[in-house]
Amino acid sequence: MKVILTGGAGFIGSHVAEFYIKEGHQVLIIDDLSTGKEENIPQDSRFEKISILEYKKMEKIFEKFKPDIVNHHAAQSSVSVSTKNPLYDADVNIKGTIILLELSARYGCKGFIFAGSGGTAYGEPEVLPVKESCQGVPKSPYGVSKKSAEMYGMYYSEKIPFVSLRYGNVYGPRQDPFGEAGVIAIFSRRMLNNEEVFIYGDGTQTRDFIFIGDVVKANKKATEYVLKGNSGIFNIATGKETSVNEIFKKLKEITNYKKDPIYKPRREGEVYRISLDIEEAKEKLGFYPEVQIEEGLKKTVKYFYEKGE
Ligand SMILES: NC(=O)c1ccc[n+]([C@@H]2O[C@H](COP(=O)([O-])OP(=O)(O)OC[C@H]3O[C@@H](n4cnc5c(N)ncnc54)[C@H](O)[C@@H]3O)[C@@H](O)[C@H]2O)c1
Repeated sequence: MKVILTGGAGFIGSHVAEFYIKEGHQVLIIDDLSTGKEENIPQDSRFEKISILEYKKMEKIFEKFKPDIVNHHAAQSSVSVSTKNPLYDADVNIKGTIILLELSARYGCKGFIFAGSGGTAYGEPEVLPVKESCQGVPKSPYGVSKKSAEMYGMYYSEKIPFVSLRYGNVYGPRQDPFGEAGVIAIFSRRMLNNEEVFIYGDGTQTRDFIFIGDVVKANKKATEYVLKGNSGIFNIATGKETSVNEIFKKLKEITNYKKDPIYKPRREGEVYRISLDIEEAKEKLGFYPEVQIEEGLKKTVKYFYEKGE
């Protein structure tokens, strides 16, 4: 099978690309390296360094490669960038997705998988864990752009089966520890280097953290599902809430870090508490997360320790 994987030089996309390659598929990665790194791109894939917004070049790629599946992970993926530059965020996340959907439909692609955002799609839900049917309004331009792109996907699903995987907070090896998001990567690296660790807000804010290995499994299930002609939107997470203070405490133990955190003001656009109901994904995709947070944190710390950044 031929797969176009956008964002394959990024954290999640590179792991998903590896999975397709291991299964024996031909993978073509499209990434503009705006946040991704060339070193993340798996060896046995083809790579085109272009932006998904470059319509003409994208069209040529679809015309020649004729993908069976498009797995779309390229995005402006930062909440904080989206609040500072909502136009750029909308361009990449909404317009970029429409370009891919349009070309996929036109060139006979059999399925489209989209990396959605469960952490930002629902705003501040009253009931947790939150179900996909919750109609909450996102608190950031990023949440709005990801949800809008998903709506375009559902619109196109009459022409091409479409699945959106609404991830919780994904963590694990290869996450960028120098970005503004990705609290586990940032804390791990800073603790290992005995640097100060900053918490934005009072640390009681919660997230539904999911290990990258489980996210790859969700992509495997979604690929099978979409190839059977099905469409849908699914939360992909654990259903559990963990506070940032708890993450700090657990990582402190694992890394033997001695300092206390430094608290800073909360950041604009971030939700306070979130966990995602995953019953739909269990029932329809057969998706079950397997990695407990303690195990996932240890694997992540080991990765950053061995990388030695
Ligand atoms: N990390 C999370 O917790 C999380 C949670 C929910 C959803 N997501 C979604 O998962 C996807 C991957 O996220 P990630 O954490 O791996 O982020 P990432 O920044 O590591 O990966 C995004 C990739 O997209 C590329 N990219 C950005 N703009 C592009 C453009 N115009 N054209 C081509 N490539 C472009 C970047 O260079 C990067 O390699 C994103 O769609 C993100 O919105 C991530």
